Amino acid sequence: MRKRYRRQTALADVSFTVGRGEVLGLLGPNGAGKTTAIKILLGLVRPDAGEALLLGRPARDPAARARVGYLPELFRYQPWLTAQEVLDLHVKLARATVPVPSQKECLATVGLADRAGDRVGGFSKGMQQRLGLAVALVAGPDLVVLDEPTSALDPLGRADVRDLLLALKERGVAVLLNSHLIGEVERVCDRVVILDKGRVAAAGTLPELLGRRSLHLRLDGVSPTASARLAAAGVVTSAGDQFTVALPADPAESLIPDLVSDLVGLGVRVHAVEPARITLEERLLDILRASTEDR
Ligand SMILES: Nc1ncnc2c1ncn2[C@@H]1O[C@H](COP(=O)(O)OP(=O)(O)O)[C@@H](O)[C@H]1O
Ligand SMILES: [Mg+2]
Repeated sequence: MRKRYRRQTALADVSFTVGRGEVLGLLGPNGAGKTTAIKILLGLVRPDAGEALLLGRPARDPAARARVGYLPELFRYQPWLTAQEVLDLHVKLARATVPVPSQKECLATVGLADRAGDRVGGFSKGMQQRLGLAVALVAGPDLVVLDEPTSALDPLGRADVRDLLLALKERGVAVLLNSHLIGEVERVCDRVVILDKGRVAAAGTLPELLGRRSLHLRLDGVSPTASARLAAAGVVTSAGDQFTVALPADPAESLIPDLVSDLVGLGVRVHAVEPARITLEERLLDILRASTEDR
């Protein structure tokens, strides 16, 4: 997809797919083009070039959107309506039939069970965001598109959304999650697409993006035999009593306990054992810095 707004390029060249039962995270700094990509998918913005397909149909075909649930980044519901009325209105707009008990259940899954009869005008930002999620989910969609679903939520609310996304995934729903909250994405997404200035700066599963893990150890009394044992676990670098072992791509579950027990058996004093992996945040910063240096 490609999209320019006057002199501003929102999307230079972006392509990605989301599969059923998969949560794809769209990450990137402000202005990277995340919302534009989502708006093209939903037929709200027309791309200059390229094509978006939703559940096998062109995104500009309204019928394609019937099975899609969407939480916009910025929205405001009619303040005079109650939460229940907002939900009912959206069910009607979607031309879906969702019995009232199921609508109530949907409000309960977003934690608004006891606020169904309250006017939205009196809702906090976080409560409105929860209602927005209910609107996106109420008609049982096959594809759910969430643009910054947790920006206004407290940590508890974020954990709720995480559980909700995992439940959707279980049901085979495809989820496109657009977020600048990296921790969020790291916890729930199967794959990540990192956008920067309208381009895909990196894409892949988290293990692909984050690379191999390593093990930091602080040891003394390391004999040549113990050194050899360390080297059998992975490539070793050391400085003084600090040892770092680069683990293989898919290390056995027992690799670390076996290594520690063997080292102890060889008379090594083990002061610290710390598995390490760079975080998505560190990786993201690396990727964005590299992509800035490229131009
Ligand atoms: N309606 C619009 N008119 C003009 N420029 C826009 C419009 N929408 C987005 N843009 C520009 O396109 C770029 C990408 O914006 P957006 O997709 O909202 O980014 P993100 O969601 O990643 O923060 C930004 O430079 C933004 O200013
Ligand atoms: Mg946005």
